[in-house]
Amino acid sequence: MAPLQYTRVVLAERPKAAVTPSTFRKEVVPFDSKAGPSQVLVKVEYVSLDPAMRGWLNNRRSYIEPVKIGAVMRAAGLGVVVEAGEESGFARGDLVSGTFGWTEYALMEKKAVTKLKIPDGGELLDFVGPLGMPGLTAYFGLLDVGKLRSGERLVVSGAAGATGSIVCQLGKQKGAKVYAIAGTPDKCKWLEDELGVDKAFNYKSPTFHEEFKQTVGYFDVFFDNVGGEILDFALTRMNKNARTVLCGAISDYNSLKPRGLTGYLNLISQRAKIEGFIVFDYVQQFPEALSYLGARLKDGSLKRRFHVVEGLEKAPQALNMLFDGGNTGKLVVKVGSDTKAKL
Ligand SMILES: NC(=O)c1ccc[n+]([C@@H]2O[C@H](COP(=O)([O-])OP(=O)(O)OC[C@H]3O[C@@H](n4cnc5c(N)ncnc54)[C@H](OP(=O)(O)O)[C@@H]3O)[C@@H](O)[C@H]2O)c1
Repeated sequence: MAPLQYTRVVLAERPKAAVTPSTFRKEVVPFDSKAGPSQVLVKVEYVSLDPAMRGWLNNRRSYIEPVKIGAVMRAAGLGVVVEAGEESGFARGDLVSGTFGWTEYALMEKKAVTKLKIPDGGELLDFVGPLGMPGLTAYFGLLDVGKLRSGERLVVSGAAGATGSIVCQLGKQKGAKVYAIAGTPDKCKWLEDELGVDKAFNYKSPTFHEEFKQTVGYFDVFFDNVGGEILDFALTRMNKNARTVLCGAISDYNSLKPRGLTGYLNLISQRAKIEGFIVFDYVQQFPEALSYLGARLKDGSLKRRFHVVEGLEKAPQALNMLFDGGNTGKLVVKVGSDTKAKL
């Protein structure tokens, strides 16, 4: 069942700003591995594109090692087991998730692979969406770090993305007034009409700051996915005891020197908090979040969108979509051309 050769995409050089055509290199290589007793061979069907991947390309200290030059680009993915070692506990045909990377096939130790069972009301892609990192990040960031309470005012940036769109809906489910910030009128319309936020603002509009001040006034919780200018503005709009959740700062990921904040003195006068977090620190509590999110998928109250780009070789250029706002909802690359037939 193993292929004679397969395609993978490796890091060729470290980018200084956005990813360029010379950042990655496609390789077609012979397949010469066999699944050992504790291993599985996975045919990768989808790879997840995440803003954090841009950070993994920098040679600097972070929560995870940088990707090495010449190594397969690290990425979460979904796939199907095509060969299972006799002690692996997996069987051919099992659907699995893992950090497979930008590759058509991945040989994995059993411990690094999770068997998936698609829940009622769900689909395979949900495991890189509401039942994957975006859903878990939204859940713990909003409820544990942000400590959102019913009746509070919640602001969400990057609101039409994978994480932000779930935060907005969790916020409504918790009884908050939810204000969303996104980059196009279409995204704002989706957030208001389908996800039910109270008001969505286009941050690219010349009247954004004025509209925000008039409509929101001051907020209690800010779930920030973008950092930079929007975060700096938000620091001037905090209620007393407000909590700003630093989930991400995508506006600064492509620059080697992030801009500073000027509004931080408001943290003192408003007795406010700003706190970063990493979702993997909650791994022991993942079952609690997955049970909540799974139930919302089952009863149809959690909506999501997937933006699917076809072809592994498109992954490098598709990564830039996260930075120019080309995606609505969760961005993924479909690796195989015959996914439906195989699953
Ligand atoms: N802390 C953690 O453990 C953790 C875990 C997962 C993700 N994250 C972070 O969560 C954030 C969202 O990740 P995601 O996977 O859900 O991505 P995403 O929101 O699906 O995609 C990124 C979105 O960011 C917006 N954006 C890009 N550049 C911007 C800028 N300069 N100013 C304002 N908005 C900008 C774009 O939408 P517009 O059209 O609206 O501009 C784009 O669609 C990222 O910062 C990521 O690093 C953190």
